[in-house]
Amino acid sequence: MKPTAGIDASATLGELASERPARIRVFESVLLDYCCGGASSLDDACRERGLDLEAVRARLEAADRKPAPAAPAPERDWRSAGIEELCDHIVSAHHDYLREEMPRISELLATVVRVHGTDCIDFEIIQRAFASLRATLEEHIDDEERVLFPACVALERGDANVVLDRATVDRHRGEHEAVGGKLTALRALAGGYDRAEALCSTHGALLDALRVLEADLHRHIHEENNVLLPRVGALIEPLPEVARP
Ligand SMILES: [Fe+2]
Ligand SMILES: [Fe+2]
Repeated sequence: MKPTAGIDASATLGELASERPARIRVFESVLLDYCCGGASSLDDACRERGLDLEAVRARLEAADRKPAPAAPAPERDWRSAGIEELCDHIVSAHHDYLREEMPRISELLATVVRVHGTDCIDFEIIQRAFASLRATLEEHIDDEERVLFPACVALERGDANVVLDRATVDRHRGEHEAVGGKLTALRALAGGYDRAEALCSTHGALLDALRVLEADLHRHIHEENNVLLPRVGALIEPLPEVARP
């Protein structure tokens, strides 16, 4: 029987994260993928990761009861925002952050490779994995700002000339999935970003930076996959029915 209150285990991770952004911290702490894997139900996702559903549900309910902190500002429920406002937020909060932070991480990696090489950790493999993630993201966010977001805003305004089809939306979802895969691989290569394993202060700063980058990308992709793209998808004209012979 469905509980009268509390977390519905059949709800998707994306729905749960959108309803109460404070739940995102719980998903992050147990490594439940609420952005690219946001279409999975809580029940299925816990089973796949070998997590105790009731324990995760209790933590989510505790997060719901906890009052939002006074500072920093509580995370916003973006479902109530207009598409243009949401796109502006994604650019200023996430894309600008990536453009500033990714070159800094590349520099930290270059220093760590120069100092530690491949002695006990193969930092060159980590450097290549990050370079691949960075290249994918730079192209992806550029494409969003030049093509996807302007089309989304035009669609919201009812511009009849806007060209945005479901294949484009699906391609963006596919690219998010590729980013999610690269993030998972990078975390594994970098020992789970465990600060206790840092070989020096630069390596420690690198691990901190990668951990923050991962968390920000999870929120970023969640806001696109679970809030923006479903709203845009609902505005795209359905394909005409093809008459069957
Ligand atoms: Fe984006
Ligand atoms: Fe994106």
